Amino acid sequence: MTQQPVVYTHGHHESVLRSHTWRTAANSAAYLLGELRPGLDLLDVGCGPGTITADLAALVAPGRVTAVDTSEEVLAKARATAAERGLENVEFAVADVQALDFPDDSFDVVHAHQVLQHVGDPVGALREMRRVCRPGGIVAARDSDYGAFAWYPERPVLDGWLELYHRVARANGGEPDAGRRLFAWARSAGFTDVAVTTTAWTFATPEERAWWSGLWADRTTASSYADLAVEGGHATRAELAEIAAAWREWGTREDASFMVPHGEVLCRVS
Ligand SMILES: C[S@@+](CC[C@H](N)C(=O)[O-])C[C@H]1O[C@@H](n2cnc3c(N)ncnc32)[C@H](O)[C@@H]1O
Repeated sequence: MTQQPVVYTHGHHESVLRSHTWRTAANSAAYLLGELRPGLDLLDVGCGPGTITADLAALVAPGRVTAVDTSEEVLAKARATAAERGLENVEFAVADVQALDFPDDSFDVVHAHQVLQHVGDPVGALREMRRVCRPGGIVAARDSDYGAFAWYPERPVLDGWLELYHRVARANGGEPDAGRRLFAWARSAGFTDVAVTTTAWTFATPEERAWWSGLWADRTTASSYADLAVEGGHATRAELAEIAAAWREWGTREDASFMVPHGEVLCRVS
């Protein structure tokens, strides 16, 4: 049986937050927006630095938003995000999605973006999300699918990056190819009314390429992921440096583009 990760694979190094703080409800939760209206109570699990949370909070106000994460460090950033935007309907708490400290039927919408890929028991997590969701409410999850990432031009070292990422994330109890599994996980969790969709991020402008390749280059050498790779015996620091250099070189190519597909499930609670 897979162990629950003791450490979030990426950690919250600046190179990781550079990606998370770019996220909005529009670019990361569009599949959910048609379900939202003022007055709904929403739980955002694994909220990270809270930029998606803040957008969702503005859409459901005066409904209450509760945002939880296992990391107190990143919750401090999420609190700051909400305060900067003047949001008064959001509260924050440390919580593990696999054992939520909320009564049954507490929320109208329970949302998780790129979280289930990092937990040891994603089906149990979805059951917990359903437990705290009111009948008639929605459990919404979106996860990327590393095995479906596609990029051009090809680089053998970047193929090695993807293979290494799979090994490190799985050794840490996660499942990087989560997007394709969300529907099956939702069914295993007992959901019978599930809408499944797929959307992708695309990085192809000079700015997007520089940003995406730069954050992966830095993440590969300086984040918790780098430490897990080395401490787990999956790569040496020299190999990580070679991968980072390949990312930077790839990012300079004027014809380069990168696609990041995500699976999405909207599960109606009966
Ligand atoms: C990829 S980040 C996504 C953050 C945010 N949802 C976003 O998309 O910007 C995953 C987040 O899930 C949190 N996390 C990991 N395992 C968790 C768990 N078992 N319960 C709650 N949060 C968890 C991590 O600390 C991290 O902040």
